Parts: sequence; structure tokens; C-alpha cells
Amino acid sequence: MKPVFLACLLIASFLMGSSFLQDQKTASIKRGQEVYTNNCQSCHMEKGEGVENSFPPLAKSDYLLKEPKRAIAIILKGQSEPIKVNGKEYNLLMPAQDYLSDEQIADVVNFISNSWGNSYKTLITPEMVKAARK
Ligand code: HEC
Repeated sequence: MKPVFLACLLIASFLMGSSFLQDQKTASIKRGQEVYTNNCQSCHMEKGEGVENSFPPLAKSDYLLKEPKRAIAIILKGQSEPIKVNGKEYNLLMPAQDYLSDEQIADVVNFISNSWGNSYKTLITPEMVKAARK
């Protein structure tokens, strides 16, 4: 009797834990949409499609999806080296957006890596952004 009870407890707490994480992620993505509209959309466009030969796409971007954590550094420090996204080269300056808070940056990275067909399991947290600021 006892081991069965323990196993049930374990499964129940696991399920609760993962749905808690899921809720947290959903909320972060939702907040991130507003950060995106106000700070990124002017260049990367409404559906993350970018602008040919100027601003790289975020929607289905192989560059972004290979390592979404890299987006934290791009937002904090800007990006000026030439980069290749989906086989095309881009070489304009993305200005740093380091005035955004740790939470805003985590939210916007969760938003761009889970929108327009993108999906990324890991939840980006404000703590990761804080660590990258140093
Ligand atoms: C002034 C225009 C501009 C704004 C505003 C801007 N970006 Fe960018 N972004 C660029 C450019 C240009 C590049 C490519 C830089 C290069 O060529 O090295 C880039 C590159 C990127 C990349 C890596 C390449 C890719 O397509 O996957 C990510 C991710 C990204 N930006 C996310 C963001 C996010 C999130 C915001 C808002 C917080 C933002 N950008 C705001 C212009 C901008």
C-alpha cells in the first residue's frame, strides 16, 4: 500500500510542477509580445519576417533557434559582425537594447523563440539575463 501511495504522490507532484512551469512560460511569452511590439518590431517586423537584405528574420531563423540563449547577449550587447541567417548574409548594426530589464529580456526571448512557428522547450529566466549582463 505504502509504495503505491508514494508513487502516486510523486507523479502528482511531478505533474503539478510541470504545469506550473508551463504556466510560467505562457505568461512570460504573453508579456514578451508587448516588449517585442515596442522594441523590436520596427526592424524585425510584425510576424518576425524581417526585411530582405537589412534585418534578419526571427521567424524560423536557424540562427536564433540553434541557440536561443544567444539572443540574450545580442539584446544586451547589440550585434555588428556579419551573420548568416537561413543562408543569407546580414551585415547591419543591431543597437544594444540593454535598457530593458532582466525580466523584459527573458520575456521577449521566450516570445520570439515560441512564435511564428518557432518553438523552444527551455524557459529563459531573468536570472540567465542577469548572469549575462556581467
Ligand atoms: C534598429 C533595428 C533593430 C532593432 C530595433 C532590433 N534588431 Fe535584432 N537585429 C537587427 C540587425 C540589423 C541584426 C543583424 C545584425 C548583423 O548583421 O550582425 C539583428 C539580429 C538579431 C538576432 C539574431 C539574428 C536572427 O535573425 O536570428 C536576434 C535574435 C535579434 N536581432 C533579436 C532582436 C530582439 C529580440 C529585438 C528587440 C528587443 C531586436 N532584435 C531589435 C536589427 C534590429
